[in-house]
Amino acid sequence: MPSIKETLINLFKNAIQTSYGLDVDPVIQYANRPEFGDFQANFALGLAKRLQLKPVDIAKEVIAKLTDEAMFKKLESSGPGFINITLADAFLASHLQHMAQDPRLGIEIEAKPRTVVVDYGGANVAKEMHVGHLRSAIIGDAFVRILSFVGHNVIRQNHLGDWGTQFGMLIEYLLDTGWQADKAHAYSDLNALYKQSKQRFDIDEVFAEKARNRVVALQSGDPTSRAIWKQLVDESLHHFQEIYDKLGVLLTENDAAGESFYNDMLQPLTQELEKNGHAQLDDGALVIALDGFVDPNGKPVPFLIRKKDGGFLYATTDLAAMKYRTKNLGATEILYVVDARQKQHFDMLFAAARKAFDLPENVKLEHTAYGAVLGEDHKPLKTRSGESVKLIDLLNEAEKRASEVVLQKHPNLTPEELSDIARSVGIGALKYADLRADKIKDYVFSWEKMLAFEGNTGPYLQNAYVRIYAIFRKGNIDLAKIQHNSITITTPFEHVLAIKLSALPDVVHAVANHLQIHTLCDYLYDLASTFHRFYEHCPVLTDENTKIRDSRILLCALTARTLQLGLNLLGINVLEKM
Ligand code: ARG
Repeated sequence: MPSIKETLINLFKNAIQTSYGLDVDPVIQYANRPEFGDFQANFALGLAKRLQLKPVDIAKEVIAKLTDEAMFKKLESSGPGFINITLADAFLASHLQHMAQDPRLGIEIEAKPRTVVVDYGGANVAKEMHVGHLRSAIIGDAFVRILSFVGHNVIRQNHLGDWGTQFGMLIEYLLDTGWQADKAHAYSDLNALYKQSKQRFDIDEVFAEKARNRVVALQSGDPTSRAIWKQLVDESLHHFQEIYDKLGVLLTENDAAGESFYNDMLQPLTQELEKNGHAQLDDGALVIALDGFVDPNGKPVPFLIRKKDGGFLYATTDLAAMKYRTKNLGATEILYVVDARQKQHFDMLFAAARKAFDLPENVKLEHTAYGAVLGEDHKPLKTRSGESVKLIDLLNEAEKRASEVVLQKHPNLTPEELSDIARSVGIGALKYADLRADKIKDYVFSWEKMLAFEGNTGPYLQNAYVRIYAIFRKGNIDLAKIQHNSITITTPFEHVLAIKLSALPDVVHAVANHLQIHTLCDYLYDLASTFHRFYEHCPVLTDENTKIRDSRILLCALTARTLQLGLNLLGINVLEKM
């Protein structure tokens, strides 16, 4: 079923067509102030210029065409030529009733599904996953959920850093400190191992030389080197998986297509590009020439894909991955959920790929960049001792702090109840705080703010859901039975809540198309606040009129379902009690 906004767009388009014979976007928007009604149509100013007419006259002409439509309570022209639209309560009520019968709450499946690769996660092997990788996992996962829900074919790809020169020193260091092929090894602290081997590499020239040779051995398939590498990778994957599971992120080991996955493709790819002239030798290195990229001195910067010594780079792997994703996986869209600091790399990668592979124009490549996680001092988040914060510690702390907050409110919970609730609240708060910020901005990490029960936070929204369930318990309401209640709108509070509820499909589709996740967060926050105002002014269980009571109960249920669906699309759980 089309959303109300879509219905308005069609109606106004037709009216304009009838009056002026032109196909014009009627610029329908949700009104941002109650005195403007529910929606505004803002096409008249633009059209007036085109037709050399007065905007007010155009607005009046179109209003006259539409004024008999039963869906409107009021259409009026305002200001220089805007049209304020107020919907009839009966229309709104029947629209919501249809939404209530739909398990998808009126959110339609895309008529033209796209095949979208979402590249997210991207942690590096043998290093502990840190808070920088948290944002990629959380934001990428929300994209995956939203795009899948609206019917796109979504392919998750975790581009792990699991190959490269650092393995030379890691493997050499392990061999040096007594690694044995026939023993099971658990590298409980890969981060420490990385640091120790790096230290050694920096001070010990003999070791450094051996490490460099080890890279060559690894690349040419030496069995011992490969075996150790494989163990390091497996160990890391296991560690990452633990974190994804704890976070409720959908990535699994099946989604892992790390740098090593593309290793065998690099040689043939670079040779092919050299042969077909898309890449050229430049002082011994192989590069793809690009327009529009210059260094600070104005000298053009090409895209480097093979070093002078024959070595390949991060960029080469990304180019191979691009080919694989567009040709083998059939991607028509690729989202790279990666740190904003890699902007230059992706700008160049996209330009190089378009040149090298003749990608059709409609293949969409997007670096969905996100900012850094800052501490409350607005500097990159660090522990007290100045180390970068480990993700696992962060998740544990989220649960611990959430359990303190929840216990204060409900001292009588059993330990099991408490730990379930604390996990959903703590992880939910962490994710929500990340998602509600415009992703491109740096985001300031604050436990107090994210765990507050007031304001635009995860716990506030989870709590709104809990409060609705408390109403149902109090009234002994059987949710299965109220779905077919009819809706009767008698007050402005119900009217405004109904408009908010009916907007969900527009919000979700806009996020699927423009990837501004924070707009879904803002919507849910707005909805919860609108609901609280409604609940303050409109008795639900105690109204004498059973028709009104049933209608209000259904409005409560719809609000709960909308909060639940919206939060789930963000990867956040709801609870019936907390
Ligand atoms: N491993 C990289 C890092 O930690 C992120 C990978 C992002 N994806 C990509 N296709 N380059 O910076």
